[in-house]
Amino acid sequence: ESAEKGGYQHFMIKEIHEQPKALKETLSPRINKDNDIVLDDIKLTEEDLEKINKVVIVACGTAYHAGLVGRFAIEKFAKIPVETDVASEFRYRDPFVDDKTLFIAVSQSGETADTLAALREAKEKGARVLAVTNVVGSRISREADDVFYTWAGPEIAVASTKAYTTQLVAMYLIALSMGLKKGTMTREKYDQILNELKTFPEKVEKLLQNQQLLQELADKQFNNQNVFYIGRGIDDHVGREGSLKLKEISYIHSEAIAAGELKHGTIALIEDGTLVVALATQDHLYDKMLSNIKEVKARGAYVIAVAKEGNTEIEKSADIAIYIPNTLDELTPVLSVIPLQILAYYIAVARGCDVDKPKNLAKSVTVE
Ligand code: G6P
Repeated sequence: ESAEKGGYQHFMIKEIHEQPKALKETLSPRINKDNDIVLDDIKLTEEDLEKINKVVIVACGTAYHAGLVGRFAIEKFAKIPVETDVASEFRYRDPFVDDKTLFIAVSQSGETADTLAALREAKEKGARVLAVTNVVGSRISREADDVFYTWAGPEIAVASTKAYTTQLVAMYLIALSMGLKKGTMTREKYDQILNELKTFPEKVEKLLQNQQLLQELADKQFNNQNVFYIGRGIDDHVGREGSLKLKEISYIHSEAIAAGELKHGTIALIEDGTLVVALATQDHLYDKMLSNIKEVKARGAYVIAVAKEGNTEIEKSADIAIYIPNTLDELTPVLSVIPLQILAYYIAVARGCDVDKPKNLAKSVTVE
């Protein structure tokens, strides 16, 4: 087993480091020399797309968090209304789905029972079904009409890392391709976003180079009882993933909340020394996030902020700032989740947890 870990202490940190490669392998084969997105296993034509008036994205756990970003991307680029739901809820609410619905199931394993059952229900109601999965030949890939394979390679650690970032890339490519086909975005905007996405393997590599600050923070913060993740828009979606990572492997209670909702309850739990991880990568929400950081600081919180490089004003409000390379606001999740994965990992290590095989959790949940 130690040979399989390639010199790393755990599969999780190995897989965190494999992200540049996983992103490259998911991106490169899909973009041709003319900068067109080629999705071989997706047969959706322009005509099919014309008919679709709603997209429903269904998944569980980390894949659901990728689906939330997918909702943002499809609404933004393709201008189609999107709903995102966890599979175990979707199935029991008699969802409105018909033959004008595009149903997207996101699943690393392609075997999650609730996601599979939701897919079957959507199919029965006439939806066109697209699977985003990491496992070729998995049940979900076999039952879907169209498939997008994330080429993350096998993911062994229970806590998902490289599968998540490649799912994000999948959602962006699907959304961009839909946007261009539908004519809801200009070629110029499309090229700008796609060209930026192509720099991500390199940008993630850069982020992985310096882990010392996060390691030091983990060594100081590993004894917290409660950790809160706050953000707005897609930063909130990433906060949810960061929070899930932490609770899965460190057993610390953590919660992610849309920063604007803090004042409606959660702020009551902030006290001296409470750790708050604040994501502030979105330019149009930056000032609002600075106010939220000040609110929790005023109640004694210790704030680790994640911002784009250059936005140093945040250092006046937060205790520590972690910077991600500058990028387009629409694409930040692929970068901003990296420090959250690393922080969760080192906190779990500092607590002596079984990082790769956390108690009570399974890599693939095949019971409903
Ligand atoms: C389990 C795993 C998670 C994963 C979720 C969905 O809970 O521990 O890491 O996100 O299932 O799995 P899937 O294979 O459908 O993405």
